Amino acid sequence: MGFCVALAVVFFFSLLAGAGEFRPGEVWCDLDGRPINAHAGGVIFEGGRYYWHGQPMTALPAGSKYPPSAGNLTEVGVNCYSSTNLYDWRYEGVALAVSENPADDLYKGLRIERPKVLRCPRTGKYVMWFHYVRSGKTHAESYEAAVCVADRVTGPFRLVKIFRPNGGQMVRDCTLFQDDDGAAYFFYASENNKTLHVVRLTDDYLDASDRWERILVGDLREAPAVFKYRSRYYMITSGCTGWRHNPASYAVADHPLGPWKKVADPCVGPNATNTFDTQGTFVLPVHGRPGAFIFMADRWNTTNMAGSAHIWLPIQLNQDSSIELRWTNRWDLSVFK
Ligand code: DGJ
Repeated sequence: MGFCVALAVVFFFSLLAGAGEFRPGEVWCDLDGRPINAHAGGVIFEGGRYYWHGQPMTALPAGSKYPPSAGNLTEVGVNCYSSTNLYDWRYEGVALAVSENPADDLYKGLRIERPKVLRCPRTGKYVMWFHYVRSGKTHAESYEAAVCVADRVTGPFRLVKIFRPNGGQMVRDCTLFQDDDGAAYFFYASENNKTLHVVRLTDDYLDASDRWERILVGDLREAPAVFKYRSRYYMITSGCTGWRHNPASYAVADHPLGPWKKVADPCVGPNATNTFDTQGTFVLPVHGRPGAFIFMADRWNTTNMAGSAHIWLPIQLNQDSSIELRWTNRWDLSVFK
């Protein structure tokens, strides 16, 4: 914690100087000096601030076999942080809290993975979707989507439903994507991770519509992160090796429902092996800067999940509309010309 306090002091002075930078791989603390704990999450921009929702990972007692293949990864729920500049984050608290009541669907001990939030333009409500595994259930018995709603972006979110969309298909790693026309899509690993699915949400974002597709069929991809640039849709995914890092790959499409065409591993240059030892979670469009996108990833630390690092890297968009990710120890938003 001393280290974080020291970092907080550095942050304070860099704030005074009007500066800021990303330091992938280093401990990233919030404005209170505590390590940011919002894994496998996403960021939205609302009313002049960015809001980052993610999984707080639990530090298990020494000697625990971790991470478990089922059961809780958090005793809290979903964390929320906010920022105006993307470098400095204020802790906003728990946006979705687990329940102390064993009769509740959100009873502690459940598994919450890869929470993502959007604001529904039709209702003005904030909607969260995530990969849900019921407390005490194994992956095969549960593996569903959970949908929650809130009046404010910071929560409190309340559960709306838990289900398997598209005729009862398994839901694992997932993300949300909102298109320019207000249509939203839920992407998720299904069919035992063999094939991704994408479904258009209903206009209130609280349910899956009947418009869905199987994509990257049989490719064994997970951790989807989707963005759009110049009418083209990009999806960065990881392979399926549990918490062990593996090479990323990206695909492109002319519509969120596909067809999606696999292109290549976007990671190039020194240390590119296994996605720079990370797994992606989200692509963050920098507000007001067309073409500026940040790849958000987690560097899983399987002996101390709470200590997993948040790794953010700039996405390079090339003239031929290919994309590249390069490791950089320190960078700031000025890389986006
Ligand atoms: C890899 C996924 O991407 C993570 O979100 C998590 O589900 C682990 N697998 C569990 O093994």
